Amino acid sequence: MILVLGATGTTGSALIEALLARDHPVTAVTREPARVRPRKGLTVTTGIVPADAIYLVAPAGPEIAEHDRRNLRAALDAGIGRVVKLSAIGADDDRLGGWHQPGEVAVRASGLRWTILRPTTFASNSLAWAPDIRAGRPIANFWGDGRQGVIDPDDVAEVAAEALTGDDHHGRTYTLTGPELITVPEQVAVLGEILGVGATAKDTPPEGVGVFADGARFVRDGHNAIVTDDAEQILGRRPAPFRAWADRNRARF
Ligand SMILES: NC(=O)c1ccc[n+]([C@@H]2O[C@H](COP(=O)([O-])OP(=O)(O)OC[C@H]3O[C@@H](n4cnc5c(N)ncnc54)[C@H](OP(=O)(O)O)[C@@H]3O)[C@@H](O)[C@H]2O)c1
Repeated sequence: MILVLGATGTTGSALIEALLARDHPVTAVTREPARVRPRKGLTVTTGIVPADAIYLVAPAGPEIAEHDRRNLRAALDAGIGRVVKLSAIGADDDRLGGWHQPGEVAVRASGLRWTILRPTTFASNSLAWAPDIRAGRPIANFWGDGRQGVIDPDDVAEVAAEALTGDDHHGRTYTLTGPELITVPEQVAVLGEILGVGATAKDTPPEGVGVFADGARFVRDGHNAIVTDDAEQILGRRPAPFRAWADRNRARF
């Protein structure tokens, strides 16, 4: 049985689907069990219970270390044997605030079988632009013309399913990106095309994005222009480009 934290979240919810499709029983951990649709093979809890493996997810922000330490300790107490931690690209780059560093260190030192996933920016972050796109307003572009290997979060979930159930991923740290580099204005143009509207982006100082300003500056300065083949190696296929994600998710805008 596999325990999935962040079960109502972006990758957690997709991971549940991926694991159930592979006939692995799943226990979803969430603060709001009513938000998880009941189905065969799935149980829901509000805390960590004994399991074979755990998907360790913390909500984005400076409290990630605290969440990771608490949940990892609970996983060890529950006798769980394997952990896959959702980290982030650049986790060991001090310019990004090091939010994921303590959790990565704790996972590597845990004595469990472990895998760390460091995805880049998710395609689904663009859903935050939906109200502006619908209203015909320019979206606030905090990331300038910085290019990124934007990844489909369903691909992250597929990689997580493999890392949680496959044999070859112990002690590995994977940097997960999509297949191509794309800027925010280019993502907005793709969305405008797919939705049939005139979507635009307005360059905006990164300070407007609060605790995420360091990340926005990092992207603006070109430091996240990275594409790897880690996802392709594990998935056995090319990961989805932004356009494919946008096409599949057009109804959510
Ligand atoms: N978004 C990106 O571009 C990106 C890229 C790389 C890495 N990441 C990493 O991915 C992780 C998840 O980020 P995300 O934006 O995709 O979030 P998310 O998974 O959509 O949501 C976070 C989940 O954490 C759970 N949670 C548990 N305790 C919480 C609390 N006190 N406050 C809020 N949520 C809580 C929530 O589940 P319940 O409500 O069901 O309890 C929620 O579903 C972060 O660690 C982030 O650094 C994100």
